[in-house]
Amino acid sequence: MSSDKIIIFDTTLRDGEQVPGCKLNTQEKLKLALALESLGVNVIEAGFPISSPGDFESVNEIAKVIKNAVVCGLTRAQQKDIEVAAEALKPAKRKRIHTGIGTSDLHIKYKFNSTREAILERAVQAVTWARNYTDDIEFYAEDAGRSDNEYLARVIEAVIKAGATTVNIPDTTGYCLPHQYGEKIKYLINHVPNIDKAIISCHCHNDLGLASSNSVYGAMNGARQIECTINGLGERAGNTSLEEVVMIIQQHPELGLYTDIKTELLNPVSRLVSETMRMPVQPNKAIVGSNAFAHSSGIHQDGFLKHAANYEIINPDLVGADTSKIVLTARSGRSALAYRFKLLGFEFDRDDVDILYQQFLEVADQKKEVENEDLTQLALQYQQKPASLSSL
Ligand code: KIV
Ligand code: ZN
Repeated sequence: MSSDKIIIFDTTLRDGEQVPGCKLNTQEKLKLALALESLGVNVIEAGFPISSPGDFESVNEIAKVIKNAVVCGLTRAQQKDIEVAAEALKPAKRKRIHTGIGTSDLHIKYKFNSTREAILERAVQAVTWARNYTDDIEFYAEDAGRSDNEYLARVIEAVIKAGATTVNIPDTTGYCLPHQYGEKIKYLINHVPNIDKAIISCHCHNDLGLASSNSVYGAMNGARQIECTINGLGERAGNTSLEEVVMIIQQHPELGLYTDIKTELLNPVSRLVSETMRMPVQPNKAIVGSNAFAHSSGIHQDGFLKHAANYEIINPDLVGADTSKIVLTARSGRSALAYRFKLLGFEFDRDDVDILYQQFLEVADQKKEVENEDLTQLALQYQQKPASLSSL
């Protein structure tokens, strides 16, 4: 596959902000939008302007300050939504209206009490309204993951004809398996005659923990935009995590894909989002969790200390994380203990470490993690009275 750029569409400020407790005021949204622009995202979905006066103001203020990224506002397939989004986006250097409607039979019947033909008409009508305000129009086929491919292809062909320049294929409920999502994208490429006039976008939710895999499968099958959020925030189990897809693409050059993201900013921006949204990051979260570069078992620590690549595929500097950590617990081994003593300024030979290791295990069995203060105390006691410790 030839080298190709993946457009990173960040929806932290829209889908991410829908998380209960994560609501942001305008100043907070502005701060995060500027951080996202520095990170190198290509499109910032700033909000859903008709949803509240506060969100209108946030989108409007973001539109005034963002210089390089496209600023996007979400709408339903309703004229008023589109007018309000266009008004909020007016000051933007580059603006996008993101409009759409559900295309699965479930949504058509139980959400809209409608028919496939009527929904297709509403989709085309929404794109036609949006064209009054911008040439950059993204159409989302909500619940595309569970939509019939043949019908979906008809809708996508019609909205591209009406002027959509990006077509978003959301797996709204996080239902698809990676190969199914990839096949859906391939189906559209093979069955929508005018698909070359639009960019296909992946928007995956994480209900089965597959959002990042599905997005990467989408890209491997021809999609060229991925919609994602910092720390994987989003409705229910969240959205595709920006840091994960960016690093999957970066770590696998054989995919022939790249992004504009400045990866060394991933951890700082993750922390900023976590603090601003008051939403802690799980410690074992890939790339940005506090344990993402921590080694705690004896076997891993020994291997890591011999050569970092034995147990790390990413250098923490590359993603702006703190240096790799050797955590001392009751599962740690002698190499890690000797290494930590050395960092604390204590040089012990092998026999000393053997003796100190037994003392260390007694402390470790009582504590979750043995701290530098515990080790310093052990070392000083040992230096004063090595014989008494050796009798333990
Ligand atoms: O998950 C979804 O389908 C969405 C759309 C509004 C794009 O968030
Ligand atoms: Zn979504």
